[in-house]
Amino acid sequence: MHCRIQLLVLLGILNAFALYDENLFIVKLSNDNFKELVTKSKSIWIVEFYIDQCSECHKFSKHFSQTAQVFEGIVQFGAVNAEENIELVQEQDVGKYPTLIVFNGPKGLPQVYTDKREVKALTSFITVTIYALVNMKLNGALYPAIFKSKFTDDLNESNFQDLVLKSKKMWLVVIYAHASAECVRLFKEWDFVEQELNGIIKMGSLEAISNYLTAGECKLFGYPTIKFFPRGRKKISFGITYTGKYTAREVVDWAFSTAAETNPLPKVVQIKNNVDLEDACSQKRMCIVAFFPENNVCSDDCRNDYLKSLEILNLEFKKQFWGWAWCEGKTQPKLEEALKINDVYPCLTAINLRTNKYAISFDSFTIENATKFFLKSVLSNDLKYLVKKDIEIVNVDYWNDQNNHISKEEL
Ligand SMILES: *[C@@H]1O[C@H](CO)[C@@H](O)[C@H](O)[C@H]1NC(C)=O
Ligand SMILES: *[C@@H]1O[C@H](CO)[C@@H](O)[C@H](O)[C@H]1NC(C)=O
Repeated sequence: MHCRIQLLVLLGILNAFALYDENLFIVKLSNDNFKELVTKSKSIWIVEFYIDQCSECHKFSKHFSQTAQVFEGIVQFGAVNAEENIELVQEQDVGKYPTLIVFNGPKGLPQVYTDKREVKALTSFITVTIYALVNMKLNGALYPAIFKSKFTDDLNESNFQDLVLKSKKMWLVVIYAHASAECVRLFKEWDFVEQELNGIIKMGSLEAISNYLTAGECKLFGYPTIKFFPRGRKKISFGITYTGKYTAREVVDWAFSTAAETNPLPKVVQIKNNVDLEDACSQKRMCIVAFFPENNVCSDDCRNDYLKSLEILNLEFKKQFWGWAWCEGKTQPKLEEALKINDVYPCLTAINLRTNKYAISFDSFTIENATKFFLKSVLSNDLKYLVKKDIEIVNVDYWNDQNNHISKEEL
């Protein structure tokens, strides 16, 4: 028995020696020296807990030493052989190996590192941590939120649950770090994101370092990480991660196409009153309104053909998150006046109800022509005219086609 213990200790020493013992950049930490060196220190410490029979630990050791070398004289690096220091392992609640824990960071509490175990990710994480600590000392607070502005909620660990997860609305959340140039650059274009999304998709920003618990649950893919939370009941794991380029335009397009994917296809509604228009368009990126010729010129078949085309276009442009509506010519005089339609039917309009801008096409109403109009004028945001305010929507009868409704099979 006695002999076996000695052998184990000996083996342990040999193995530990192999991993970090001769390393000049990594301090060997133990039950005995941990308090003195780490806990009582004011320096940031990056501490690895490892065991000898762990291939991941061996793989990681090169990355760890290289990172330690980079931060020599700036940040302290230490390693704990878990098998020899059970007390420390229990104290820090370490359950798997390797585990990296940051001590004396900006929040004081030990923070487990969860990103990739390689030099680049670890280096950028440590840089962000130093930046946060410096800000903490300078400003007394971690730092001001950079994405905070009129329509973007400043999220944190205390309000994330109430604001985002308990909300039934769609949310776009950007998780960012101050030291990330990509985040700073995206923030410069954030006005555009707000202008496009406001009123449709809620926006929030979460600073990752001050809120590392929530940020960690979001499973970060570097900074910024952008998540879309669909309408309805939410869990943090429901967030859909953006993987495109970090430009405002592309983020907005993605947000709307993800909104479209996670919502049912909108109905094409007849504008019979204010409520219809509101239902079809108020929470949409654009409102497509078609004006069909009057009943005496365009009978049921004619109108059904138009409606069928609208349905097809609705499906084709689903990703845009537009609302779709139609009315019979001359039935909404104020709306027609505002849009300068002058009794020319059919015509197709695309109205942005939030900016009061619109585009109009008087080309013959075919799928091909409408597609061209959408691509050329609407998607390139070539909206020239300003809609007059105070448009009165008249109550009209529901159009009841004698030839029945369009069946879904025909689409
Ligand atoms: C979180 O944000 C709210 C505002 O929404 C603020 O009142 C609160 O103090 C913040 N909490 C923390 C811990 O920063
Ligand atoms: C498109 O509209 C133009 C102008 O009204 C018309 O001359 C043309 O025939 C239409 N094209 C198609 C394919 O319907």
